[in-house]
Amino acid sequence: MIISIVLAPFSCLNPLLEKMTSSWAFFAQGLTTIVLLCVNHRVAVASEYTRPGPGRIVLTKHMKPNSYPQQVHVSSVGADHMRVSYITNDSSIPSKVQYGKVSGKYNAVANGDSSHYTYFLYTSGKIHNVKIGPLEPDTVYYYRCGGVGDEFSFKTAPASLPIEFAVVGDLGQTEWTVSTLAHIGKSDYDMLLLPGDLSYADSQQPLWDSFGRLIQPYASSRPWMVTEGNHEVEALTALDMVPFIAYNHRWRMPYEESKSTSNLYYSFNVAGAVHVIMLGSYTEYGPDSAQYKWLVSDLAKVDRSVTPWLIVLLHAPWYNTNTAHQGEGEKMRKAMEALLYRAHVDIVFAGHVHAYERFTRIHNNAADSCGPVYITIGDGGNREGLALHFNPSHKSASLSVFREASFGHGRLKIIDGKKAHWSWHRNNDSDATVADELWLVSLSSSSPCQDGTKAKDEL
Ligand SMILES: [Fe+2]
Repeated sequence: MIISIVLAPFSCLNPLLEKMTSSWAFFAQGLTTIVLLCVNHRVAVASEYTRPGPGRIVLTKHMKPNSYPQQVHVSSVGADHMRVSYITNDSSIPSKVQYGKVSGKYNAVANGDSSHYTYFLYTSGKIHNVKIGPLEPDTVYYYRCGGVGDEFSFKTAPASLPIEFAVVGDLGQTEWTVSTLAHIGKSDYDMLLLPGDLSYADSQQPLWDSFGRLIQPYASSRPWMVTEGNHEVEALTALDMVPFIAYNHRWRMPYEESKSTSNLYYSFNVAGAVHVIMLGSYTEYGPDSAQYKWLVSDLAKVDRSVTPWLIVLLHAPWYNTNTAHQGEGEKMRKAMEALLYRAHVDIVFAGHVHAYERFTRIHNNAADSCGPVYITIGDGGNREGLALHFNPSHKSASLSVFREASFGHGRLKIIDGKKAHWSWHRNNDSDATVADELWLVSLSSSSPCQDGTKAKDEL
């Protein structure tokens, strides 16, 4: 059952009061979230701009028995394993996934672990993580979680190119989100990449549960690989609530496999030819930081003759001509841009700004044929609305190739070791209409970049 509620995004109390009268789950956290919501809005308003009118949030309830797994999502772990994550309100349900290639016939089983967290008066359900495999590439598997409830299915990523990614940031859980997800689901893809800001729970923990249920049809059927945004922080040190507590429990990514010590940044290979690096905009990134040192080490391991494509995702954009969130990615850019340039990263995806913007290849604020293409894709459809205003006089305006304040998502289809096709699909249309597209050539196949002479000259 889905309940739609009209929200006034800049009113501190009204959204909560409406939710409390519409859902018992929010009533349970009532007084707690009044305080937290007021704090969050006070912080947000200080750096906000004028956004369009009310957004409509979509709440998704669990209508099945407590024992039934919910909020099921999967993520790739290594070349041939998948992590199945799910939540149960019944703590007696085991962390166990049965799976097989025929519906209803499970010839394999794997056991995992579970955790839960508390956030002021809220206690999460039992959060299960089960790693299954080895699995065959490009193959549909049917699975059941905890030995009870519905059967799900997913398709594993291909072992070699081509591969198609869906890319979307700042998703939230509004009617715009529903539209974006519907467009994503209209055509097949292999993996979803999300550069931060998932649920927009903003300390209202039941909204994490609602988000998990909303995306389940999509996230249970294709691997969703995510990194964190500012809306995942949810830190309240005065109340002893550490940053990222909900995100880290609910969205465990394969960081150990890439020798990262934090769920907030990691990398992985997919399709045998693509190395994807997920960076954290809201954890330390300076030269002395663990993330910086890990990035240096991770990039050093990338053999472009084996993985010709190198893609980076982060949340706060390094290049941005929108009036929203100006300069918020600048410190991180100054700290890490040279690393990405020397490694010949092909594309940097960001979110945070609720619009779409594509830049040319850039290094250090100038067009550079050996730099990454920068793309902001923070237009998934959250309750804060769109970032409507681009500054035509911005110092980066001449580098900005395409920009539009509309909700939508992107597709990156990597054809082979040299060619890839990028497209941006706007939600405004009843069909997923391509509003921007581009053919890309991997920098690993560009002689002037590959031999390093150009990069060294310009650093
Ligand atoms: Fe953000």
